[in-house]
Amino acid sequence: MRIAVVGSGYVGLVAGACFAELGHDVTLVDNDAAKIAALHKGEVPIHERFLPELLQRHRGSRLSFSGNLRQAALESAVIFIAVGTPPTEEGEADLSYVESVAREVAGAVNGGYKIVVEKSTVPVYTSTWVRKVMLLNGAQESSFDVASNPEFLREGTAVTDFLYPDRIVVGADNERCAAVLREIYRPMTDGSYYRGKNAVPGPDGVRVPPRLIVTSTKSAELIKHASNAFLAMKISFINAVASVCENVGADVSQVCEGIGTDSRIGPRFLSPGVGYGGSCFPKDLMAFRAVARECGYDFSLLDEVIRINEDMRQRFLRKVRNALWTLKGKRLAVLGLSFKGGTDDVRESPALCLVELLLKEGSQIVAYDPAATERAREVLGDRVTFAANPYEAAGGADALLVLTDWEEFAALDLDRLREQLRYPIVIDGRNLYNPEQMAAHGIHYYSIGRPPAAPKSQPANAGTAPGSH
Ligand code: UDX
Ligand code: UDX
Repeated sequence: MRIAVVGSGYVGLVAGACFAELGHDVTLVDNDAAKIAALHKGEVPIHERFLPELLQRHRGSRLSFSGNLRQAALESAVIFIAVGTPPTEEGEADLSYVESVAREVAGAVNGGYKIVVEKSTVPVYTSTWVRKVMLLNGAQESSFDVASNPEFLREGTAVTDFLYPDRIVVGADNERCAAVLREIYRPMTDGSYYRGKNAVPGPDGVRVPPRLIVTSTKSAELIKHASNAFLAMKISFINAVASVCENVGADVSQVCEGIGTDSRIGPRFLSPGVGYGGSCFPKDLMAFRAVARECGYDFSLLDEVIRINEDMRQRFLRKVRNALWTLKGKRLAVLGLSFKGGTDDVRESPALCLVELLLKEGSQIVAYDPAATERAREVLGDRVTFAANPYEAAGGADALLVLTDWEEFAALDLDRLREQLRYPIVIDGRNLYNPEQMAAHGIHYYSIGRPPAAPKSQPANAGTAPGSH
């Protein structure tokens, strides 16, 4: 099938590369000329596992890049919209990019049958608006349908999330339209893709083929917002439980094991930390809240999810203060700047937010991130020193803070790390280490929702409050 994907960001680029991998002919469109030029040159604009391989495999054969939306739409049977939907000041989704794509595509659908598919996260009723805008701009009623096919990929594991999803959701209001979308995903739903010898390997224990669920377009739009809101709620819930654990001296990791093994709850998205971030959860919660309000429902539960999330940053800051007393002039090593491990994305990163708060307190920050340094530098400039590795960041620091859950941080040489630090204090916002193990390595260790640990023969707060220098 000939497919155009409009918007070559995190979602569009991954979706386009994966559609090509499934055997379709894909044109990736973007109005950012520099991005298209970079893609033409073989560059990979984002850090994402398996994406370089897929781009390399299909570039110039099944995958092409273009700045010409009208032309790409004319040549395609299905047009996926994957442009950004950033929040407005009121917290609603800004749909002006989606609207401008709909306007331009309207002139390219007549004379056959095409489907315009929302891939970006959009509020309920967007498909109705896209249809109206297209009709107003000259598209004939019978020449097109608008569908919703939300994307559930997570950054860092986007390619495998796309190719090995728990489910595929297709929102289509008639069978003709649903049949085309079923056809696009057929190599996945009939299992043929997974039998191919070059298939991207799936995660351990994944079940294939995935189920494809057909719903109305409105339901599909709601499924996306409701999924993200539910996952964010799960994270805020466990973060709130972690705060209670701290107050009573319980261990949140034990509580997680105890509740996560209840199959009705499940173990995933139950990791406490410094709160959720990224380009989706914060924005989508606000947008879902605004949509509900607009439709006459006061979804105040979502306010509380957001409040708990913001509070986690303040709580972490207090934890740093409790470990170090004053923050002014303290040299702090920061591990992790991206909003989560495995990606170079720093949008709405809790780590960046905490670095800003610590800078405001007068701390000196030396930071290390395996992939996000360049993107973080665009935001932080020279207010922060960037180190080439975790040990360099730790050199002479009053404490080490872990702010992102990069796998490689969990495997650090703890003795080497301790020797680098001025004081052996680690404050872990992602619970990457075992408290006893840290204590055994001579480190004063503070984490989320678990009792602090200290080297034998020293009380847990003996590392507290080295003087400022
Ligand atoms: C996506 C979805 O669009 C968003 O709704 C979802 O919630 C998060 O993921 P993402 O892929 O991360 O956003 O966005 P971004 O990386 O900003 O990419 C959007 C791309 O669309 C950019 O490359 C931009 O240049 C392009 N674009 C934007 C267009 O081609 N045309 C436009 O009119 C606007
Ligand atoms: C999310 C959704 O998971 C995905 O389905 C949707 O398509 C886009 O939004 P993403 O933002 O890429 O994906 O990352 P995700 O893995 O969901 O993490 C979001 C944030 O929550 C990160 O800051 C992460 O560190 C945090 N998180 C996640 C936790 O704090 N605890 C957890 O248990 C899981």
